[in-house]
Amino acid sequence: MSALPPPDRPDQPVLVFDSGIGGLTVLREARVLIPERRFVYVADDDGFPYGGWAEDALRDHVVALFGRLLRDHDPALCIVACNTAFTVAGAALRAAYPDRVFVGTVPAIKPAAERTRSGLVSVLATPGTVQRDYTHRLIQSFASLCRVRLVGSTRLARIAEAYIRGMPVGDAEIRAEIAACFVEEDAARTDIVVLGCTHYPFLANVFRRLAPWPVDWLDPAEAIARHARSLLPAADHALHPDAADRAVFTGGAPDFPTRRLMNSFGLAVG
Ligand code: DGL
Repeated sequence: MSALPPPDRPDQPVLVFDSGIGGLTVLREARVLIPERRFVYVADDDGFPYGGWAEDALRDHVVALFGRLLRDHDPALCIVACNTAFTVAGAALRAAYPDRVFVGTVPAIKPAAERTRSGLVSVLATPGTVQRDYTHRLIQSFASLCRVRLVGSTRLARIAEAYIRGMPVGDAEIRAEIAACFVEEDAARTDIVVLGCTHYPFLANVFRRLAPWPVDWLDPAEAIARHARSLLPAADHALHPDAADRAVFTGGAPDFPTRRLMNSFGLAVG
């Protein structure tokens, strides 16, 4: 975290960033806790999906993109609501922009290790996130007494993008993507699945319906929002006074279902 004093200009927005629509799961929690700020939601749809990018290329891409975003929006604080981006580029972002405050998103391995009763925990994330050193270090530091199964899904982020826009998605396809999360060993069963991609909470109800047995699906959105809240000065007014929250797409003008989705989240596009 930045060691600088907190920002004190109430007109500065909070910027929430993801490769696509996943960061909306964090935005909705952040709005509840930070009602006095304007929000700018940035979707790097041009770079989506991040899950298959090479690490160096993604790091350089995200750091360069933030150069423009910080100039254009001058945010009070940035929430990088993307595990795939933050686990590889978080340190580089803080090094490149030391006068800015970044709140990151990483797989909720520590809370999962604290809560599991069976000791069997799975992390469902993009292929990028499950390969990261960052993720492996989290397991070594906080979950060394658990058996952690890492499940990298190449398809779920795209499926979530379709599902949230009201397009049909197949149960069989989703069942196949989550199947590896369910482990039975020595009479114990997985009891927690960490949602290690911000897109996945949109599918949580489908996951619950298709799961072979009930588990806790751990969504870190509220914890991320609480952390962001703690880094901003206390609110002196209840609601941000002026312009509406906005959504910005790096690919330019999004299609109608995407605009409708953003509008349903109270975000003006452009
Ligand atoms: N929402 C992003 C995350 O939390 C990943 C989606 C993608 O593959 O771009 O990791």
